[in-house]
Amino acid sequence: MSTVTATRGLVEIHNVHKAFHGVEVLKGIDLTVQPGEVVALLGPSGSGKSTLLRTINHLERVDAGSVTVDGEFIGYELRHGKLHELREREILQRRTRVGIVFQNFHLFPHLTALENITEAPLALKRLSTDDARELALGLLDRVGLADKADAYPRQLSGGQQQRVAIARALALKPQVLLFDEPTSALDPELVGEVLDVIRDLANLGTTLIIVTHEIGFAREVADRVVFLDQGRIVEQGAPDEVLSRPRHPRTREFLAKVLG
Ligand SMILES: Nc1ncnc2c1ncn2[C@@H]1O[C@H](COP(=O)(O)OP(=O)(O)OP(=O)(O)O)[C@@H](O)[C@H]1O
Ligand SMILES: [Mg+2]
Repeated sequence: MSTVTATRGLVEIHNVHKAFHGVEVLKGIDLTVQPGEVVALLGPSGSGKSTLLRTINHLERVDAGSVTVDGEFIGYELRHGKLHELREREILQRRTRVGIVFQNFHLFPHLTALENITEAPLALKRLSTDDARELALGLLDRVGLADKADAYPRQLSGGQQQRVAIARALALKPQVLLFDEPTSALDPELVGEVLDVIRDLANLGTTLIIVTHEIGFAREVADRVVFLDQGRIVEQGAPDEVLSRPRHPRTREFLAKVLG
């Protein structure tokens, strides 16, 4: 939970529907996430968590409904009262407002930790080489990897790679950061170091939406827990409420399973 008042990073999801091959996997999602709010998104496999995250930065087009970040669409613009999809280049620029960190890091294997972080700011011509390097070194320091700037992903542990991936996402100064099971691919002893970095971001007032099965972490860090089942939000509220006294049978069933 943040101690800082954030002004950017309002996410408004309104009646979002999404189908794949005629099968609806998001069935009318409404969710508003306030600037600086930390939302933990829980739900069984296949409930639509990743799809929902991907609609937020327009990696996935919605069939109906809308998603805005700070009042603006990522993939569209409003002209004469109608939505028009933007060109790929404009979408890429706007998409940088929303960072996303995946389960399997997705680092470029042929680039060093530092180069992984400077790649996007340089490709988007946001910074000079020197400024990008300075920014990357600062971010590596922030995630506890100041000494790994020249290491390639294969020379790093899973936890270290994930911390580089977080630094890479931060390099574009996103308003919102999305995490899709950021610790699921890690050995148990490496989970803590990644959660520590995410906890710091939460404290700094970044809007975070985190898909996770780390129930203890969700309870500690999230302002709100949202439970998704079969493409619908079936329950949400304060972590203590939803995690200790779930009302919906599907939430109870899910928690019983993940808490073993
Ligand atoms: N690109 C796609 N093409 C076809 N079906 C898809 C696609 N992406 C997702 N789906 C389907 O949509 C449903 C929701 O998938 P999604 O990945 O959002 O679930 P999830 O809640 O993230 O699950 P998990 O916990 O396993 O990651 C699943 O039935 C999945 O098979
Ligand atoms: Mg998923």
